[in-house]
Amino acid sequence: MSITRRKFTQIGLGTGALMAMPLSLGKPNSTLIKRTIPSSGEVIPVIGLGTNRYGVGADKIARATLSQTLQKFHALGGTVIDTAPSYGSSEVVLGELLDKLGIQEDLFLASKVDSRNLSDNKAGYRASLARFNTPQFDLMQVHNFKDWQNSLALLQEKKMAGEIRYIGMTTHMPNQYSLMEQVIKEHALDFIQVNLSLANQRSSSERLIPLAADQGVAVLINRPFGGGGVFSKLSQTKLPDWSQEFECESWGQFLLKYALSQPGVTAAIPGMTKARHVIDNIQGGCGLMPTAQLRQRQEAFFDAL
Ligand SMILES: NC(=O)c1ccc[n+]([C@@H]2O[C@H](COP(=O)([O-])OP(=O)(O)OC[C@H]3O[C@@H](n4cnc5c(N)ncnc54)[C@H](OP(=O)(O)O)[C@@H]3O)[C@@H](O)[C@H]2O)c1
Repeated sequence: MSITRRKFTQIGLGTGALMAMPLSLGKPNSTLIKRTIPSSGEVIPVIGLGTNRYGVGADKIARATLSQTLQKFHALGGTVIDTAPSYGSSEVVLGELLDKLGIQEDLFLASKVDSRNLSDNKAGYRASLARFNTPQFDLMQVHNFKDWQNSLALLQEKKMAGEIRYIGMTTHMPNQYSLMEQVIKEHALDFIQVNLSLANQRSSSERLIPLAADQGVAVLINRPFGGGGVFSKLSQTKLPDWSQEFECESWGQFLLKYALSQPGVTAAIPGMTKARHVIDNIQGGCGLMPTAQLRQRQEAFFDAL
């Protein structure tokens, strides 16, 4: 993506200074919150979209569903979309759908380098640019520390050349958190991406996310629903009345607001292949967020399920 006029207008405005127009969700408090990327001052909406289930190949019906999902996400003010070459045909499908919808210029597109050697990563990076027919990515990340020193050096070189606006590292594995902490301290990252879910992984909020915030690194949360398996269990359970204290109307919002309210978190990227999940989750990025005390109550409630 080139740096569009829209993007320039967002740079330099602090958190909350640039708020989206209220969304047409028919709710009283439906302004999607935006937060600042520390390294630039640019703001992004707190709800993004993960695409690891977009690898549907040529399946026309599945593509039509994904197209509606992307359209709804865009219409409700979403911009951050995360993908990777290793998500089957996701990058290909996403690139073609965005092209047909004509919305790519409005988006903040993030992908990854995820091969185990430098020459494959160089080729993979060029293929990613070609799939989105763009000379520039908003964010390019090293996926799960694969060949990470060489991969990070490659991304730094491409950032210097103006082909990447922001660089980052991702993981969803707690046994990589201490290495992530070391890399944050020793290298100039714009973003990290890490898992945090009330459902099954809370430890990233103890040291890793606060450290990133201290070092001026933006934090994207992957797997905020722990992969999504928890929803079948939750469908049998009523939302507690006290969840209204943070304007929560669904289990999706309950989990998203738990992650988004942690100090240091910039945005979450829930996986969504259905428009109804986009509508639900975007509302999770609006209105009041739980306090630290309410988060403790959320944890106790989940632990007792
Ligand atoms: N190491 C890494 O870099 C790494 C690792 C893992 C994931 N990621 C990124 O993070 C993204 C998110 O992770 P994930 O997709 O594995 O897990 P997730 O976001 O925790 O869960 C996604 C699942 O939750 C469902 N869902 C979404 N919103 C819902 C709602 N409001 N109510 C009920 N169900 C809902 C989705 O269903 P539908 O699909 O039917 O909408 C999907 O099955 C990935 O897509 C990927 O971009 C990165």
